[in-house]
Amino acid sequence: MPATSVVCKQLLPVYDKPLIYYPLSVLMLAGISEILVISNANDIPLLQRLLGDGGDWGLDLRYAVQERPEGLAQALVIGRNFCDGAPVCLALGDNLFYGQGLSLRVRAAASLQSGAVVFAYPVNEPEHFGVVTLDRAGRPVAIVEKPKRPASNLAVTGLYFYDSSAVEYAQELQPSSRAEYEITDINKRYLERGDLRVEVLGRGYAWLDAGTHESLLEAAQFVQTIENRQGYKIACLEEIALHQGWITIETVLKRAHQYAKSGYGRYLERVATEWGVSSASLNITPQ
Ligand code: G1P
Repeated sequence: MPATSVVCKQLLPVYDKPLIYYPLSVLMLAGISEILVISNANDIPLLQRLLGDGGDWGLDLRYAVQERPEGLAQALVIGRNFCDGAPVCLALGDNLFYGQGLSLRVRAAASLQSGAVVFAYPVNEPEHFGVVTLDRAGRPVAIVEKPKRPASNLAVTGLYFYDSSAVEYAQELQPSSRAEYEITDINKRYLERGDLRVEVLGRGYAWLDAGTHESLLEAAQFVQTIENRQGYKIACLEEIALHQGWITIETVLKRAHQYAKSGYGRYLERVATEWGVSSASLNITPQ
C-alpha cells in the first residue's frame, strides 16, 4: 500500500508490461493455452479488459472470482470444473521466471500424467517461502511453509504441476495457522505418497517474485537490463504465441499496429518480419 490500493499487483507494470504477462508467458511456453485467471471481484473486470478472451494470443482465457483471500490452494477448488479431472498447472500471478532451457523444462513438467512437479530455487532468505529439503539423490524429504529455521536454502517457486488428485486434496484441506489453504499442504500430500518431483532451477536461472516494493522494482530492473542489452523481450505474449503456431503473422502485425507508437509495437513488427523470413526459408508456415 498504497501502490495496490486500487489495482492488484498483477496489473502493475514490470518495466514495459503488466506483471501478469510474465507467469502467462511461462504457461504458454509450457504449451498450455486453456487458462483460468483467478482474482478478487474488484480486479477480475480489469484483468478481463487487459487480456480479453485471450484470442489475440491463441489462448482460451476464462475468469473466476476468489471471494476472500483464503489461500492459494483454494484456486484448485474454485477451478475444479475447469480442471474437469485433467492434470493442471497452477502459476502464481506475481512470479517471474527466466533462463535458457526453461521452456523445455516446463513443457516436460506439463506432460505429467501422475504425481506432481514443483520447481525449487536457491534464495538468500528462504524463511519467506515454502522450503524444500532434498536428499543426496535430489528426492524431496521435507517441505515446510515459511519455516523460522529453514533446513535448506531451496524455496518452492510459484509454479506447480499436478495430476488430477490435487483438486481432491484441495477439497479436503484445513486452513493453516495463518487461516489460509496452503499450497504447501497439497505438495505435502504428494510428498507423503512418494510422488513429488522437485526440479531445481540453478545458477543459470532467474526466479523473482514481485511481492514487495523492492522485489517489484528489482524485477523491473532485471527485465530492463536483459531487454535493453539483447534487444529481445521477455514475456512478449504475441511472440510466444507465434512461435507456438497459435497465431499468424497477420495477427502479430495487427497488434503491432495497435501499439504503433510504442517500442512494444516496433518489437512486434520485427518479430513478424523475422519469423516470416525464417519460416519462408524453412518452408514452413507458422500456423
Ligand atoms: C506462496 C507459497 C510459498 C511459495 C511462494 C512463492 O507464498 O505459500 O510456499 O514459496 O508463494 O512465491 P505467499 O505468496 O503466500 O507468501
